[in-house]
Amino acid sequence: MNNFTYFNPTRIHFGQGQIAKLTEELPAEAKVLITYGGGSIKKNGVLKQVHAALAGRHYVEFGGIEANPHFETLMQAVEVVKAESIDYILAVGGGSVIDGSKFIAAAARYEGDAWEILQTYGSKIRDAVPLGTVLTLAATGSEMNNGAVITKAETQDKLFFFSPFVQPRFSILDPETTYTLPARQIANGVVDAYVHTLEQYTTYPVQAKVQDRFAEGLLRTLIEEGPAALANPQDYDVRANLMWTATMALNGTLSTGVPTDWATHMIGHELTGLYGLDHAQTLAIVQTAVWKHKLAAKQAKLAQYAERVFDVHDGSEADKAQAAIARTEDFFTAMGNPVRLSAYGLGDEVIDAVAAKLTAHGHTALGEHADITPDDVKQILRLAL
Ligand code: NZQ
Ligand code: ZN
Repeated sequence: MNNFTYFNPTRIHFGQGQIAKLTEELPAEAKVLITYGGGSIKKNGVLKQVHAALAGRHYVEFGGIEANPHFETLMQAVEVVKAESIDYILAVGGGSVIDGSKFIAAAARYEGDAWEILQTYGSKIRDAVPLGTVLTLAATGSEMNNGAVITKAETQDKLFFFSPFVQPRFSILDPETTYTLPARQIANGVVDAYVHTLEQYTTYPVQAKVQDRFAEGLLRTLIEEGPAALANPQDYDVRANLMWTATMALNGTLSTGVPTDWATHMIGHELTGLYGLDHAQTLAIVQTAVWKHKLAAKQAKLAQYAERVFDVHDGSEADKAQAAIARTEDFFTAMGNPVRLSAYGLGDEVIDAVAAKLTAHGHTALGEHADITPDDVKQILRLAL
């Protein structure tokens, strides 16, 4: 196991009725900006619960944060934060609203051109407006981590940043808020959490038994509960297990003391930036293509994954690794996320375009060995046609 330092300061309130905890989490005198997306929280009653908890408080609202949140939209919210002297941001929504709100929080207190925040991966952030969240979509882990992914629509650049200043102070996770998710977003959430786990697990062995078995537990839970959520959208226990799994998959716990990959995410972000595919749609396409390209380096962990997650006990290590690839593709497909670019009408044109964007962004050495170059990415995308 490698050395690590681990700290996660986000307070979690999990379960039915927990939105009421906003009353104690938000300072009584705070002037709050409630941020949200395209309106799902108005239709499903989540905003009403937030309003009830904030009765008598001072707040304003900023809606319209789109999926894969746009820098251009978020900068309008930064103006509101400044004009209204906002001193707390409450993000109510999925990963896009939470990520967008992290950016708003940092940009409102940033000296200089706010796009620099993305270009410098958040390293120059020195302050941010305090942030809390009410999560309505189990997927990204953004509710308990300090990362965010932002798109500049004008240039189709989808970039990420990290900063301890934007880590949510608290997050409210009420599984009932996810009952209204459309099937496509249920699937996206399950696949995203699944691939977050894989990115921190299917690398090479470092004898990190706790992390491995924790990852395997999360994967098995997603395999059980993902299809169950599609079949019975209002099953509380299913939603609760999915929600906590997604949070745990990217809150820093799994990556302690182990190598991490993230090539699938890096390639996937460019696919979303260029072609508008949902985040998890890109992951389902790219993940197994990365494995096929890096099979020798990943074979040992893929075989372990086949044994412990899919109960594949026959055959050689190579056979088990192949079984892992096939079973993973079956799972993504069964959830409703196809594993080939052609399913979205995309073909050869993608290959050079994605490699060029990665090069322009300086992301030319991907993966746990930092040996996936733009040329490798081209080969990976060919495997995903
Ligand atoms: O905008 P509204 O109307 O709220 O509708 C949203 C949106 O259309 C809808 N939705 C959310 N909760 C709902 C609901 N509809 C009905 N009932 C509910 N309870 O779902 C749609 C998608 O929402 P979005 O927030 O975009 O989805 P997700 O949570 O999957 O977030 C994706 C974004 O997070 C980034 C992705 O790149 C993408 O931009 N990621 C963030 C990460 C992080 N911060 O750590 C890591 C991830 O790897 C990922 O990159
Ligand atoms: Zn993701």
